[in-house]
Amino acid sequence: METKWWHNAVVYQIYPRSFADANGDGTGDLAGIIGKLDYLQTLGINVIWLSPVFRSPMDDNGYDISDYCDIAPEFGTLAEMEMLIAEAARRDIRILMDLVVNHTSDEHPWFIEARKSRDNPYRDYYIWRAPRTDGSAPDEQRSNFGGSAWEFDATTGEYYFHLFSKRQPDLNWANPQVQQEVHRMMNWWLDKGIGGFRMDVIDLIGKDVDRGITSNGPRLHPLLQEMNAATFGARDVLTVGETWSATPEIAKLYSEPARRELSMVFQFEHITLTWDPQDGKWTPRAFDLREFKGVIGKWQKVLADIGWNSLFWNNHDLPRAVSKYGDPGRYRIESAKMLATALHFLKGTPYIYQGEEIGMTNVRFESVEDYQDAESLGLYRERIAAGVSHEAMMEGIYANSRGNARTPMHWDASEHAGFSHGKPWMKINPNYREINVAAALDDPGSIFHHYRTLIRLRKEYPVIVYGDYRPLLDAHPQVFAYERQLGDQRIVVINNFSGQLVELELPADLRDLAGESLVSNYGPRNVLGQHLTLQPYESFAIALDTQTT
Ligand code: GLC
Ligand code: CA
Repeated sequence: METKWWHNAVVYQIYPRSFADANGDGTGDLAGIIGKLDYLQTLGINVIWLSPVFRSPMDDNGYDISDYCDIAPEFGTLAEMEMLIAEAARRDIRILMDLVVNHTSDEHPWFIEARKSRDNPYRDYYIWRAPRTDGSAPDEQRSNFGGSAWEFDATTGEYYFHLFSKRQPDLNWANPQVQQEVHRMMNWWLDKGIGGFRMDVIDLIGKDVDRGITSNGPRLHPLLQEMNAATFGARDVLTVGETWSATPEIAKLYSEPARRELSMVFQFEHITLTWDPQDGKWTPRAFDLREFKGVIGKWQKVLADIGWNSLFWNNHDLPRAVSKYGDPGRYRIESAKMLATALHFLKGTPYIYQGEEIGMTNVRFESVEDYQDAESLGLYRERIAAGVSHEAMMEGIYANSRGNARTPMHWDASEHAGFSHGKPWMKINPNYREINVAAALDDPGSIFHHYRTLIRLRKEYPVIVYGDYRPLLDAHPQVFAYERQLGDQRIVVINNFSGQLVELELPADLRDLAGESLVSNYGPRNVLGQHLTLQPYESFAIALDTQTT
């Protein structure tokens, strides 16, 4: 495998609205991020994925862009963006921009033009269809944020297509002009020295609306190959596609270097395991470790030699990891560290979402409005109208609303958690007095310092980056264990995913292994032995002493 700088990198995702507010208007901004670069350097990350900071009416908090080549005034200026890129580079940190090109904002000049007349030169930048004879929408396709995917536009008497809110009209990727405009814009950003792109819902751009195909459309991979050739292909950058529809085989298509598409994709198979198969995320389903191990093992295996995995527990669209997979109460610290260890020793590039490194948790707000999220609100309305009770819907929101991840970052125990001098745009999680960066930095046993260790180990041990993955104790319902091996380097990782003591009887090939304790969340461990008693959420990694094995 040809080595790449992003193979041993760790990425940190910033949701700018909620990260740090420098000017006290209640909304996070670029100056706030620049002020926290030293903190991120201490953590040890190499890349920042910046959720969108472009000019936007903020119908979907910036995932609705009205000018790709300018910064939203509430976040700052282009000059500050350039300063952020430069200041990050001084600390060996690269910036990934969020490329949101499945759709634009309805306030983008292209759309403003497109809706003026049927023969406007920009008309074909978007997807327009005539009503059915009774005036209704062209077909039954649904938006991801609730309601029809078609919106009637009275000026020209046609419907336009939108897979997200009606203020996010889908671009028509079958139009070569759209492709060229996007390529031009990408090159403009690459020339500014960014480290690459995270590509929003990129699996939707090959859609064939008339055949009802949205994800994995027939033109998807050719479009990405053309994009690669026209933009980042010749540059040494990281590209990661958001692909809810990817299977491991499809992920290989995206990430096989010879195909010249992307570095890697985000897959969500492990995430959707806790969603009801029919009803989706609003009807949560219990986490089953055996299913999870099956999914992770499959992805590790299929992308073992060709292609590359991305590794993550959460992002700005998902609940907080420790609330979802750990114990946000009694064992918050132990379980957050365990989850970090379980993920960071896998093969792939790990992503940390802001606040994960201090174990921030989900929040329980009384009203859906407090979640400040187009999706939660849209689906709340739709499902209540369809007869779901308020209580049931709120349980879904507590478990899975995107708002859980978007409450402002906890910097210290002062008012507004040190996030802002003013009134934050979104309510803060009341537990910030206990869970915050200042406290974590002061405590050598904190979750933060555990993450720091994991990031450092990835740089020191090629086996963590390139080693083969072998599952251990496969059928165990509470323990996720695996081995990594590269030449004579071997690492065994053991994670108790439960709040109970677990008595393990180790199989013959694991008994009596010993070595160096790399990381642990109770005392250090350097031998396995025949019987092992794991504490609640205990987790550790041992670099085996190959002399004794
Ligand atoms: C992606 C983003 C999400 C956004 C949606 C529409 O899923 O991660 O936040 O709402 O695309 O752009
Ligand atoms: Ca601000």
